Amino acid sequence: MNPRKNTEQENHPELEHCDFDRLIEPALSRRTFLQTSAAALGLYFATTPVARAVAAATRSPLLGFEAVAASTADGFAVPAGYVARPLISWGDPLLPGAPAFNPSGTQDAAAQAAQFGDNTDGMSLFPLAEDRAVLAVNNEYTNYEYLYAHQGEAELSADDVKKAQAAHGVSVFEIARNRQGDWQPVAGSRYNRRITAYTPMEVTGPAAGHALLKTAADASGRKVLGTFNNCANGRTPWGTYLTCEENFHGYFGSADAQFSPDRRQKRYGLAAKSDYRWFGHDERFDLARHPNEPHRHGWVVEIDPLDPASTPRKRTALGRFKHENAELIVAADGHVVVYLGDDERGEHIYRFVSKGRYDPANPAANRELLAEGTLYVARFGAEPGELKGRGEWIELTHGKNGLTAANGFADQAEVLVFAREAATRVGATTMDRPEWVAIHPDGRSVYCTLTNNSKRGSDGQPVSGPNPRAANKYGQIVRWRPAGGDHTVAGFEWDLFVLAGNPAVHGGTPYAGSANVSADNMFNSPDGIGFDADGRLWIQTDGDYSNAGDFAGMGNNQMLCADPASGEIRRFATGPVACELTGMAFTPDRRTLFVGVQHPGEDLKPSHFPGGGSAKPRSTIMAIRRIDGGVVGT
Ligand code: FEO
Ligand code: CA
Ligand code: CA
Repeated sequence: MNPRKNTEQENHPELEHCDFDRLIEPALSRRTFLQTSAAALGLYFATTPVARAVAAATRSPLLGFEAVAASTADGFAVPAGYVARPLISWGDPLLPGAPAFNPSGTQDAAAQAAQFGDNTDGMSLFPLAEDRAVLAVNNEYTNYEYLYAHQGEAELSADDVKKAQAAHGVSVFEIARNRQGDWQPVAGSRYNRRITAYTPMEVTGPAAGHALLKTAADASGRKVLGTFNNCANGRTPWGTYLTCEENFHGYFGSADAQFSPDRRQKRYGLAAKSDYRWFGHDERFDLARHPNEPHRHGWVVEIDPLDPASTPRKRTALGRFKHENAELIVAADGHVVVYLGDDERGEHIYRFVSKGRYDPANPAANRELLAEGTLYVARFGAEPGELKGRGEWIELTHGKNGLTAANGFADQAEVLVFAREAATRVGATTMDRPEWVAIHPDGRSVYCTLTNNSKRGSDGQPVSGPNPRAANKYGQIVRWRPAGGDHTVAGFEWDLFVLAGNPAVHGGTPYAGSANVSADNMFNSPDGIGFDADGRLWIQTDGDYSNAGDFAGMGNNQMLCADPASGEIRRFATGPVACELTGMAFTPDRRTLFVGVQHPGEDLKPSHFPGGGSAKPRSTIMAIRRIDGGVVGT
């Protein structure tokens, strides 16, 4: 049983061997597609094997490691001269009194609440000293087939539900580097903390205290229990951690046979059937009884990782949707800008601009910068067939752009709680499942993974602009440059950095991918991305790992590294069977890179990672180093 499957990973056997001409809209014929991309990008589609081989043979000096081959092995492979070791795995003890992990699945909720949560995802590192740091890590969800001895096949007990809730949320813990240069968790550190699906939180911003957020248990509409399905993350310059609530809908359902979701609930995927079945023992998850509870989830949450007693704050000014990550930059004039993706087929990319300005000299004054500001949504323009163009940010403010009471938005809180609906109203571009956003360290360009989209070309989603392939099974990375380098202005220019594809299966068509994709580096479904300080773009995948059909030769999910200037992409690591790689953090000296291995062996596929032998597979953070102690990637 893998509740994550509902919107996350998609396998499309029905799309294998699609005929290219049938997939491309009339406005984007094969010839137009190839020609315009060539003119537009420089990273044009190679039409011959020779051209592709030349493009793939580029050796960027920025990438200082030998490529790793695609793999279907149940291990974690890194380049020659590197070593990768587990830092921490699901169930390892974190808090005082926590028991060691027991693979039987019989440990109770109290044990899980004191251990590292399941399914590691986005993470940020907060240095304390040269050899000490605090790591804040999302624990996105849990696999019932491994969490319980009954593998999720039995009726859940009250403790089962509590245990699942304790496996979710965020783990904050100290790590330290030993004399051998290895980082390890510090058991019993005063910083160690588990934040779960029932940790008390405060709601801030325009939707705080609104009628839509009030429930039987919380008449104030300001006190929420918990965070769950915490996907990726962000980090503020004032030292806080941002955790982003993604597929919150799957936790809600109803025991009421008469319940059916209304239009607004459907837009967020809420339904009577619940993958996680929490409502049987925690009635706030029953939609028929507590219809406002889901309005209290789907937000970005800000956490002070260095104060274990602090109350996490849900930031409603950043909008409610299925948040992937929160990529932050301070604009030249001091406004804090946050880029946000909404990971669902045909949803949108957002931007938040704070009302206040960042003051590096006054840390305390920065703490509420995410409480108030303006939310925008992206509209990408393009001439037919063009793979570049101009775009604009459209303001999502009540009273503007048709966001009025007459159109169903009574006030700003309604605009934010139903941000998806507001985005549709203002004509936002439907995207191919926006995942992570990353800003180049020069501050001039922003990259976003569009992981795949089986519905592109149907369901009212046109094949155009940055979403140029119908029934998109491989994904792409779009990038944009704010006009004048100013992240607060409306205009930007965009192009595509890469279209993933399989040249071995689809040579000569857009499904071969752009010219910087070859049989040696191919991948599908880019998801996690991030830059290091030198400007290397690190790319993690969460895609089809069947290694067959459209995905033949791609192997298990992987991590790649790219040079944004030359376009070269080189495979850096491969993960074990049936995992995704997600989440990354560098130590300040960049001699260690932490990478998350999520859901190895999902759906009982044959993984024993990282223990080997007959061990139960466990989500694990890997610590990657160069054997010679050098900077990772160089
Ligand atoms: Fe949790 Fe969209 O990945
Ligand atoms: Ca993801
Ligand atoms: Ca994904």
